[in-house]
Amino acid sequence: EKNGFDTFMLKEIHEQPRAYEDTMRGRIDEEKQQIVLPGVSLTPEQIREIKQIQMVACGTAYHAALVGKTVVERLTRIPVEVDLASEYRYRMPIIRENTLVIAVSQSGETADTLAAIREAKQWGARVMAITNVVGSSVAREAEDVLFTLAGPEIAVASTKAYSSQLIAFYLLGMFMGQSLGTLDPVTSVEMIAMLERLPFQVEEMLRHQDPIHGIAEHITQQEHLFFIGRGLDYSLAMEASLKLKEISYIHSEAYAAGELKHGSLALIEDGTPVIALATQELLLEKTVSNIKEVKARGAYVIALALEGNTELEKTADQVIYVPRTYSLLTPALAVVPLQLLAYYTAALRGNDVDKPRNLAKSVTVE
Ligand code: F6R
Repeated sequence: EKNGFDTFMLKEIHEQPRAYEDTMRGRIDEEKQQIVLPGVSLTPEQIREIKQIQMVACGTAYHAALVGKTVVERLTRIPVEVDLASEYRYRMPIIRENTLVIAVSQSGETADTLAAIREAKQWGARVMAITNVVGSSVAREAEDVLFTLAGPEIAVASTKAYSSQLIAFYLLGMFMGQSLGTLDPVTSVEMIAMLERLPFQVEEMLRHQDPIHGIAEHITQQEHLFFIGRGLDYSLAMEASLKLKEISYIHSEAYAAGELKHGSLALIEDGTPVIALATQELLLEKTVSNIKEVKARGAYVIALALEGNTELEKTADQVIYVPRTYSLLTPALAVVPLQLLAYYTAALRGNDVDKPRNLAKSVTVE
């Protein structure tokens, strides 16, 4: 059942090209170069009326929603808020007319996410679900459902479900952007082509993972480390940090690169590993200056950079390269080496990677 892999997690990491393809299948009209989402019954008029979007989710799904916010705002210009489902319910969220609430959940059974949906519905919001499980509670309670088709995820640590949620957000953002006219046809055609290349690019990345193993050997003895990034790299840093924590039991923190000097820089000592995500071209210069900041305090820097940005080798101790794509799509590629890094680190420490201590796959209690 593990298909020759040592663990479900490794198998599921390798299933991502397939999960991406399945999640896109039938949703791209090649002739019209348009996104079609059969489970979403929002009409163009209804999309035009949406004043705000609120996304609710827990854990890894919350991290996917953070990427989703950037994607949907960029492609639709509709303001998006993201809330942890467990916080949303109790903060008296302002749900005005024409609010769309998007609940993100792999299992579709997370208690807090379900409670957030019910709260939103009570105040008249329209609820859309992004979930991986057909017939799940979240799918049943939402008006519109956008299924991720990642297939069953067995490992407690989410990998292919997260990355397929990113694909779902790309499709949704483009769908709404095309309908609103906020996504111009030229960009749209380009994005579709790039989206369709992602599975091949992930496959290629999975073939070249040796350097990551070496980096895992380096961090396996550490007690704590930092992930830093800006923009989408910051959202991805949070997911990378959670992944490492939950399976390797090494403490890590994700920090917005620009925030370091407002406090956490004090924790950087000689040898502290800092994993610097620098895949967003427009923010590169700023991130590089943050890398220099931590280097000057003795940090051991592992940078994640776009292919061709070899100048990072001058500043960082190690560089992991990510293939180029449309900037919004980069997290769907950059997540792969970060998953593998968490995986190898945990495996080197002899942990039960598929069943980390204290955690359950589906959290059906509040
Ligand atoms: C981490 C992980 C959890 C889940 C969270 C929400 O790897 O899997 O953080 O993402 O418990 O679960 P779902 O998506 O099923 O609502």
